[in-house]
Amino acid sequence: MRQPLVVGNWKMNGTRDSVRQLLDAIVAGVSADSPVAVGVCPPYVFIPQAAQHLSGTPVLLGAQNVADHEAGAYTGEVSASMLKEFDCKLAIVGHSERRSLYGESDALVAARYQQAIDHGLTPLLCIGETLEQREAGETFAVVDSQLDAVLEKAGIQSLSKAVIAYEPVWAIGTGKTATPQQAQEVHAHIRQRIAAQDADIAGQVRILYGGSVNDANAKSLFGMADIDGGLIGGASLKADAFLTIVQSAAETI
Ligand code: PGA
Repeated sequence: MRQPLVVGNWKMNGTRDSVRQLLDAIVAGVSADSPVAVGVCPPYVFIPQAAQHLSGTPVLLGAQNVADHEAGAYTGEVSASMLKEFDCKLAIVGHSERRSLYGESDALVAARYQQAIDHGLTPLLCIGETLEQREAGETFAVVDSQLDAVLEKAGIQSLSKAVIAYEPVWAIGTGKTATPQQAQEVHAHIRQRIAAQDADIAGQVRILYGGSVNDANAKSLFGMADIDGGLIGGASLKADAFLTIVQSAAETI
């Protein structure tokens, strides 16, 4: 049985004040015995504030990225060990905005993933195709190559300490969500591909869906057999919507 996971990716949004308000509401809405694991990924600069706010609560803290090196002359980067010092448990890697807007390659994403694994952070590895790739019938090939790049470096066993997020690029921030069937088809494919290497790990690894998940569509997506929760962008900035999404995940258990 895979415990559902719902993670908010706040992207580059928030102020000290809005972070405090959002965390207050999320903490109030997630009980210690929640059947759904819940996490939030604020911008780096708010991580110390969030760590303090979330201390002693079941809400997991995550970062939106993590450096591909241990330490040193890497201006602008934040290392896995720094994130650990501030109680981060999760780190998103390979988000499509990092890949497309900041040119992050599969190799760089794999190095970031490896750093997270090495330091005991759970990498949330994002993979997904563009609209052009989907229309060209390349969806499976794209997610396979993004996944393979990471597994070739970190090994299949690393997936026992990781989470995958399938996020079709055409669905991110566009309001155009994949249908539950479209998402399930890709999730099942990803799980089968992992099963070809290790059936136990395939059965255990959580595969989240991301891309315009909201309080209205979450339940039908999370009800699919291979969808184990969601990575939520826009809707995670509104506490009510985010908590309804968490509740939707609980209802599908
Ligand atoms: P969205 O973003 O929910 O705003 O589409 C999801 C993501 O980028 O993780």
